[in-house]
Amino acid sequence: MPDASPAEALSPPVVWPDTPQSLRLEPLTAPFAHPSEAQFARLLDFYGVAWQYEPRSFPLREEDDGRVVEAFTPDFYLPEFDLYIELTTLRQSLVTYKNRKLRRLRERYPDVNVKLLYRKDYLRLLERFGIDPRHSTALPSVERVLVARADLERRVTELGAEITRDYAGSRPILVGVLRGVTCFMADLMRAIDLPVTVDFLALSPYAQEREVLHFTKDLEEDITGQRVIVVEDIVDTGISLHRLLQYLDDRSPNDVAVCALLDKRARRIADVPIRYTGFEVGDEFVVGYGLDYRQEFRNLPYVGVVRTE
Ligand code: IMP
Ligand code: MG
Repeated sequence: MPDASPAEALSPPVVWPDTPQSLRLEPLTAPFAHPSEAQFARLLDFYGVAWQYEPRSFPLREEDDGRVVEAFTPDFYLPEFDLYIELTTLRQSLVTYKNRKLRRLRERYPDVNVKLLYRKDYLRLLERFGIDPRHSTALPSVERVLVARADLERRVTELGAEITRDYAGSRPILVGVLRGVTCFMADLMRAIDLPVTVDFLALSPYAQEREVLHFTKDLEEDITGQRVIVVEDIVDTGISLHRLLQYLDDRSPNDVAVCALLDKRARRIADVPIRYTGFEVGDEFVVGYGLDYRQEFRNLPYVGVVRTE
């Protein structure tokens, strides 16, 4: 069992939630090789995403006698997304080696979807849920402006005009996900020249141990037969949006489209359809215009990048 260096010792300790038994494809004592894997499984449980731990080995190279001399066993398989995930908490130099293996896997098994989560991706994912494996309390500062105020205004106006055109003659319900969406929603609804209804949902924060994702604020409106536009600040892994879309679909709306200000496509795990996108952003942690880092920076009038390393 690889030992965990102090920097990698994750906190808080893994607590298993009361996830429905159907979601548990592994025994509670699954033999994780590393604490980060246990923590990742905990995150998936929170989202209600079923997972299997190292369910399959892919032979990569054989000797002439057919003996397998190299194989790749991804850490996780997520049946719902038909996706294998390899977590790597290794140093960058070793990542190169893993990348080579991954490339070979993709060549040999082109139909297999596999995603490598780098150490920094993974730490960021944890940070988003208020878990700071490095126990740092220092608030990072905004490193640079990514989307300036004028560009936000221009793009939001364009999105509003597109929606106005596409929904002419109807009255869509704009459904925003609190709290990050506040600025975007306020500007977007004023850029739509149609009668609209506005409603909000709020999702539970991960910090509440032993809980699975749920709404802390439900819709006020009945969306049955309605045209729904989900308004999101940013789509990252897409898992929460995926869950939200399932929830909305269960309520039989006429149709549902997604309008996201920011799309962090590189980090997608759940393949969610986004009809209107403000800006595609790279794999960086962004704040401002509603988005926060530990409840900070929401009131910046632009979107900026924070340095969290
Ligand atoms: P997803 O389920 O991973 O797509 O999570 C999306 C949610 O995570 C967003 O609605 C945000 O609240 C939050 N989030 C993801 N990336 C960032 C970021 O870079 N800055 C601030 N919040 C983020
Ligand atoms: Mg959100």
